[in-house]
Amino acid sequence: MSKMIPATLILGDGIGPEIVDATLAALDALGAPFEWDRQIAGLGGLQTAGDPLPKATLDSIRHTRLALKGPLETPSGSGYRSSNVRLREEFQLYANLRPARTIIPGGRFDKIDLVVVRENLEGLYIGHEHYVKIDEDPHAVAMATGINTRAGGMRLLEYAFEHAVVTGRKKVTIVHKANIMKALTGIFLETGLKLYEDKYKGKFELDTVIIDACAMKLVLNPWQFDMLVTTNLFGDILSDLVAGLVGGLGMAPGANIGADAAIFEAVHGSAPDIAGKGIANPIALMLAAAMMLDHCKLPEMATRLRTAIDETLNIDKVRTGDLGGSAGTAEFTKALVSRIHKPS
Ligand code: NAI
Repeated sequence: MSKMIPATLILGDGIGPEIVDATLAALDALGAPFEWDRQIAGLGGLQTAGDPLPKATLDSIRHTRLALKGPLETPSGSGYRSSNVRLREEFQLYANLRPARTIIPGGRFDKIDLVVVRENLEGLYIGHEHYVKIDEDPHAVAMATGINTRAGGMRLLEYAFEHAVVTGRKKVTIVHKANIMKALTGIFLETGLKLYEDKYKGKFELDTVIIDACAMKLVLNPWQFDMLVTTNLFGDILSDLVAGLVGGLGMAPGANIGADAAIFEAVHGSAPDIAGKGIANPIALMLAAAMMLDHCKLPEMATRLRTAIDETLNIDKVRTGDLGGSAGTAEFTKALVSRIHKPS
C-alpha cells in the first residue's frame, strides 16, 4: 500500500457535490492514496461559515499544499469577490494549465491535442476596478486597471516553456494584443521572446499571434497549434474556446500550479441551470483528478483513469446528455468504475 497523501477536498457549489462524488468513486476504484480533508468555500462557505473562503479552508490547503475542488459560485456584477481568484492569489498559483484532447472521435474537430497555459495572477484580474459617478448616475463610468509584471510573466513563461520541453510539445505560441495594449500585453510578448532566445531556442518552435486572429485560427484550423501561452483574461477566454473543440466544458480539466500549492479543478463553473438534476458530466473533474495523480507522481493511476474514461465513452458508449448520450452522472460513474475494475 502506497503512502497516504493528505489533500484538501472542496465539494463546491451547484453541480460541485455531484461531480466530486463521481470523481471520488473513480479515485477509490483506482485505490488512489489520498487522505481527504473536506473543506468548504464559495457560496457554500458563505452560507455555512459566513465567508466564501473560510480560514479553515485556507489553513487546510496551507498544510496539504494540494487540493481538488468543485466549482465555486461567484455573483456577477456585485457581491463577494471570486473565491477562485482569491485562492490563486493566496497560494500564488501563477500557472493555469488547461489541456484539451479529443476523447470522442468523429466530432466537428477530430484529433485535437492542445494545451493552454494561462497566467493566473495578473492582468485585468487583479480587481482594481471602480465606477465614477456623474450627476445622478453612480455607474456613469467604469474603470479597470490591469497590471502585468516582467517577473510575473517570466515565471509563467518559464513554467510553460519547461512544460513544453518535458511533455515534448513541438510548438509554443505566445498569444497577445501588443498592437493595441502595447505596454500591458507587450511586456508579456517581449519577455517571452527574450526568454526563448536566451534559453529555449531549438528546443521547440516559437510563434506569436494576436488574440483575435488566434480565435479565428483556432476555429478554422486548430491543428496548427500545439501549446498556447497567454495572459490571464485571454487565457480564460481561449481555454473555453479550446474546450469547445473537444466536446464542451464537460471535457476540460484545469490545474492551478504555484510555488506554494497546486489546486485541480474543472474549467467549467457550478452550472446552476442543471444543479441537483443528476445529469452533470463529471469527466472534466475526473480529468483534473488525473492531472493531480500525475502531479503526485502517480502517472500509472492517471493513465488508468484516462483509459477508463476513454473506454466508457467509446467502447461502452455511456455518455451524459452534453455529449449526446442519455446517461446521468450516476450511471456514467457506475460504468466508469466497472471499467476501472476490468482489465483492458
Ligand atoms: P458554467 O460553466 O457553470 O455553465 C455554462 C454552461 O455549461 C451551462 O449551460 C452549464 O449547464 C453547462 N455545463 C457546465 N459544466 C457542465 C458539466 N459538467 N456537465 C454538463 N453541462 C455543464 O458557467 P456559468 O453559468 O457562466 O457560471 C456559473 C457559476 O460558476 C458562476 O457563479 C461562475 O462565477 C462560476 N464559475 C466558477 C468557476 C470555478 O469554480 N473554477 C469557473 C467558471 C465559472
